Amino acid sequence: MDDPYAPAREALAGEGLGSGGPDDGDADGADPAVLAARLDDADPLTGFADRYRIPDDLLYMDGNSLGPASDAALASLDRVVDEWRDLLIAGWTDADPPWFEVGERLGDALAPLVGADPSEVVVGNSITVNIHTLVGTFLDELLAGNGPDREGFERADGEWAPGGDTEVDPAILVNELDFPSDHYAIRAQLRQRGIDPDEKLRVVPSRDGRTIDPGDVEAALDAHDDVGIVFMPTALYRSGQLFDVERITEAAHEAGAYAGFDAAHSAGAVPHEFDAAGVDFAVWCTYKYLNAGPGSIGALFVAERHHRVTPALAGWWGHEKATQFEMNMTYTPADSAGAWQIGTPPLLAAAPLEGAVELLREAGIERLREKSLALTDFLIALVDDRLPAVSVGTPRERDARGGHVALEHPEAERLSATLKDRGVVVDFRPPNVVRVCPAAPYTSFADVLEVVDEIESILDGGAHEEYATSEGGVT
Ligand SMILES: Cc1ncc(COP(=O)(O)O)c(C=O)c1O
Repeated sequence: MDDPYAPAREALAGEGLGSGGPDDGDADGADPAVLAARLDDADPLTGFADRYRIPDDLLYMDGNSLGPASDAALASLDRVVDEWRDLLIAGWTDADPPWFEVGERLGDALAPLVGADPSEVVVGNSITVNIHTLVGTFLDELLAGNGPDREGFERADGEWAPGGDTEVDPAILVNELDFPSDHYAIRAQLRQRGIDPDEKLRVVPSRDGRTIDPGDVEAALDAHDDVGIVFMPTALYRSGQLFDVERITEAAHEAGAYAGFDAAHSAGAVPHEFDAAGVDFAVWCTYKYLNAGPGSIGALFVAERHHRVTPALAGWWGHEKATQFEMNMTYTPADSAGAWQIGTPPLLAAAPLEGAVELLREAGIERLREKSLALTDFLIALVDDRLPAVSVGTPRERDARGGHVALEHPEAERLSATLKDRGVVVDFRPPNVVRVCPAAPYTSFADVLEVVDEIESILDGGAHEEYATSEGGVT
């Protein structure tokens, strides 16, 4: 079959799922259980699930918060633990591969997943810290008059000045549905430069409380000529809306602003082309779709044209590698994204990433995306068909949909708690969203059907009404 996942797309596109059952007449195509079995049988990634360690009694739909362990990730972690025990301090140079360049080495492994040159990606710090250092870096550049050259991505033109006025401070454009930590960090970076965040953090509003219209980002850039950085998510954490990175980057550059992205909710699930799109910088984590474990190391991308810029948060681990141990008091940043590392990398929080990424690369990011879209197609079609009280808050268009689906229900918190007690791990995001993430490497179409069956049985039987909400009160 050319496209093994086509039936899921067709189900959502209007063929429907039917009521199923032996008397359905067209049971083969319409019964969701038959359809799920057909999709699972044809799935080229089906064998990958066995390589993840998910307890048999769980339906794990929360890989957009914390990905599961895999044999490969545990093996690379075990190896580093053994090296620590056997080699002690010599591990920095004598481990195989040496620990010293772990940031660069794992950056190389991640680079193809985001469409970057290996020198442009490094692992280090956390998302929030990486936003601090990268937003700080590009704010400093703007304050020095260095914007991204509008015409050919020269490193800087030395003439950044909104409306020609060098006295005007740069603003940063974000949106109101961002993950809060991003705004905390950006506000802090503005404040530290004497810039009032209440004035200069410009927030694109959402029209529907779920999504951001890219036209509104462009309109904000047209309305304000002081925007020096556009910082947007690649995918929204609540609704899962996928942004058009290329379009936003182009709009930012046309307005003379840098384009930065928080790719936490797409890295490892959606292929990116940061280089081709002209992105200036990006940050993401490795504990969600990259499956490297709780609190695992962060990752960042800095376009090659910015590599000689001085990082805002300087530290010895970002020093030029060849001379780092000469211990000079003068800081010479590495000539790569590695310059944005700060201190000693947490080896044990980085080690599982090696195996985890190998597994994803073996599956292939394009194939993972195709399967992820089919899984969410199937999920949305089932919700439409079977759950009249639930609405889908995630865009239906495939190119605006990330890896999870936001199901909206007034009793979302209780529903989520009831599902967890039945072994279906999802998460609740206030006020009314249950996020369901059928992650491609380890989720089957039958799993998706089972989740919908559980939701249907809970809502029909009222089991969730017995549960407390965080506001208290058991009914
Ligand atoms: C979109 C997004 N941005 C930022 C963060 C914060 O990441 P960290 O705690 O690794 O700094 C998260 C955490 O889940 C997130 O989902």
